[in-house]
Amino acid sequence: MKIQNDLLLRTIRGEKVERPPVWLMRQAGRILPQYRAVRASLSSFKELVANPELAAEVTIQPIDELGVDAAIIFSDILVIPEAMGLDYELVEKKGPVFPKVIQRKEDIDVLVTGEDAASRLGYVYEALECTIKELNGRVPLIGFSGAPWTLLAYMLEGSGSKTFSKAKKFLYQEPILAHQLLEKITHAIISYLTAKIKAGVDVVQIFDSWAGLLSPDQYRTFALPYIKTICQAIDEVPITVFSKGAWFILEDLKEVSCHTIGLDWTTSVEYARECLGDTKILQGNLDPCQLYAPHDRIKKEAENMIRAFGAGYIVNLGHGVYPDTPLDGVKAFVNHVKSFRY
Ligand code: CP3
Repeated sequence: MKIQNDLLLRTIRGEKVERPPVWLMRQAGRILPQYRAVRASLSSFKELVANPELAAEVTIQPIDELGVDAAIIFSDILVIPEAMGLDYELVEKKGPVFPKVIQRKEDIDVLVTGEDAASRLGYVYEALECTIKELNGRVPLIGFSGAPWTLLAYMLEGSGSKTFSKAKKFLYQEPILAHQLLEKITHAIISYLTAKIKAGVDVVQIFDSWAGLLSPDQYRTFALPYIKTICQAIDEVPITVFSKGAWFILEDLKEVSCHTIGLDWTTSVEYARECLGDTKILQGNLDPCQLYAPHDRIKKEAENMIRAFGAGYIVNLGHGVYPDTPLDGVKAFVNHVKSFRY
């Protein structure tokens, strides 16, 4: 399908564009009253994730309400552990909880992977098809997956954590098992992303949300090789790698065959360009808390950011938008970016 607003795709291809594209991580979610209304009509988050029509509806809400330049499919990174055999629940005010976690080799051996895992996620591909139909070519659609290390972290820890010390302990105590698990997760991710691309996504993003908890050595041993494998296996659409907090391995990401690198607010533009040159398009990196500031401040920050990054840049936050962010602040940000001209 011909995409009417293809600014994101032109930017990723390295073409000269009139302004940078803008979208927000976690744009499909609780900042929007429309989202909260749909969510309130259901008893759980997972019910929404598994309902293709409603997932498509909340995916499109930020396109209508905020006018962003891309849609990101409403889902969660935790559908992969679930498809592999580890069920999760999203507990109000607590976050994800896995009743059963990985502790020993036998737990890893029974996990489902590859196409067998990906084929359990038919509701995601249906949601993508529904979204594409309803978007009707307005903007590109982004598909995503968690990165192997971040998914392993949840599968070992069983919930969110400040330190993920159980998961990190496993890397030190059981490195062979950790690699076996990472390999299984990686195969599931590749089959899953391949199916998403077949369903029609235009770009995929890999979220390594807990990358910053690893040391550079651990990242190079347990995270980077698997991200490389995924990027090598996927060549049909451009890939964005967002390794949150991992400024210390930015230079290594140059060797990953992805097109775009997502940055959080702890990395300066200058440092990112020094590490990556113009080998990658950059995406990010406004501190989500900036969106609570007065509007003139938000606009100024947006402009500073666009000028500092220069060409080959996608405007976004340095992490997901926080649920209580004032909607008018978000709109001031998006509208100001859209009024910018290089
Ligand atoms: O970006 C988007 O708009 C698409 C939707 C999306 C969600 N989760 C919806 C969601 C995406 C891309 C994710 C990815 C995700 N999920 C990540 C990686 C990005 C990041 O934030 O680092 C992670 C670590 C998760 C795991 C997860 N899911 C957590 C920790 C939580 C609870 C805390 C929270 O942020 O709410 C979720 C739940 C979740 N995923 C919600 C949404 C809209 C909130 C659920 C609700 O409506 O109550």
